[in-house]
Amino acid sequence: MSLTGKHIVLGVTGGIAAYKAAYVARELLARGAEVRVAMTHTATKLIGPLTFTGLTGKPPVVDLWDPSYPGEVHVDLARWADAIVIAPTTANVIARLAHGLAEDPVSATVLCFDGPVLVAPAMHHRMWQHAATRANVATNEARGLAFVGPVFGKLASGEEGVGRMSEPLAIVDALEGLLAKRSSARDLEGRRVLVSAGPTHEALDPVRFLGNRSSGRMGWAIAERARDRGATVTIVAGPVSLVDPGGVEVVRVRSALEMEAAITSRREDADAIVMAAAVADFRPRALATEKIKKSEGEDAPSIELVRNPDILAGLGQWRLGRARARPFLVGFAVETTDLVAAAQKKLAKKKVDLVVANHASVAFEGDDNEAVLVREASVTPTGRLSKRALADRILDVLRDGTAREDPGAPKS
Ligand code: C5P
Repeated sequence: MSLTGKHIVLGVTGGIAAYKAAYVARELLARGAEVRVAMTHTATKLIGPLTFTGLTGKPPVVDLWDPSYPGEVHVDLARWADAIVIAPTTANVIARLAHGLAEDPVSATVLCFDGPVLVAPAMHHRMWQHAATRANVATNEARGLAFVGPVFGKLASGEEGVGRMSEPLAIVDALEGLLAKRSSARDLEGRRVLVSAGPTHEALDPVRFLGNRSSGRMGWAIAERARDRGATVTIVAGPVSLVDPGGVEVVRVRSALEMEAAITSRREDADAIVMAAAVADFRPRALATEKIKKSEGEDAPSIELVRNPDILAGLGQWRLGRARARPFLVGFAVETTDLVAAAQKKLAKKKVDLVVANHASVAFEGDDNEAVLVREASVTPTGRLSKRALADRILDVLRDGTAREDPGAPKS
């Protein structure tokens, strides 16, 4: 329980996602933290303070001017806290934080606090994209506030977009990551990590493509954690609707061929390459220059496919000809049956160091995953965990696999 004994203030502000704050509180408690809750007035309309009293054993702070409180509650809360997490955080509260306003218990406590603050925004996607919010987020980030999400998904309005609050598990993982970072777990300092993420789109004509359901979240989690742990990180991303993580170079591509070119041109510089992308195995042989039309009475056209290069296998092959076993290569295997056997086969065939095997039913779209880490001499099931926590497990292997050539260490 990595939050054992930590004092966490959970700020809850007035978004529909406030109901999920109860799960955040529960997860914090489950990981050993002591939790005090502060709520804005609007949040109390969306979730009852009694819910948090029941969960944490203490009534939340809902009023800065409670006459029965013998002191200044926001000052006391800030003094008590090791970290503050605000979930959900509205555009309004992000603006208050950026401008130093302190009219509610959440923003007043943050203004009194100089430790780590994690913000989990939740709002309509247009509010998130608005220039005012962008500027407020940038101001807050420049002052050291950390953000987790928002993520792409269905919003309260019924529309889809980037604005949905990260899932409670991911928020608490991010908080753990933030606290770990503070306790200087920068064990990937000096390593250069190249991560591919997302699907590829293989164009059929100017408006259609063949694609797959990969969301890019696994690659994003690996890149963010590698960055937090001190690595210099580049993501080569297929078409995903995720916001670029701060402090990471993001190269956007569409097709497998573009991804191959982007990776090939950067492979020499990498200490490790993690192929988390779901690269299409095939592409249409021909790209129609005009939109393919249906015409009366004609049969449906068939699409002739050709093989795409296997980027990872290409990297394995290229590495064979090198004097040293660098970069460290990590592949993924999404399977529906015989997970381990398929991963072991892939490990040998593609000549890589680690294959992360997961079941198709959990691999895509969600924030959670469950995998088996397959190496030449070991098979390690991870159990169910967040993509962020899985990223850390993968990076632990990567760290050990790239450590031998640390400056000053004996060459193997
Ligand atoms: O063979 P399979 O597609 O199952 O292998 C998956 C692994 O190989 C992933 O790491 C994926 O990123 C990589 N891959 C690749 N190029 C392809 C297909 C898969 O690099 N054309």
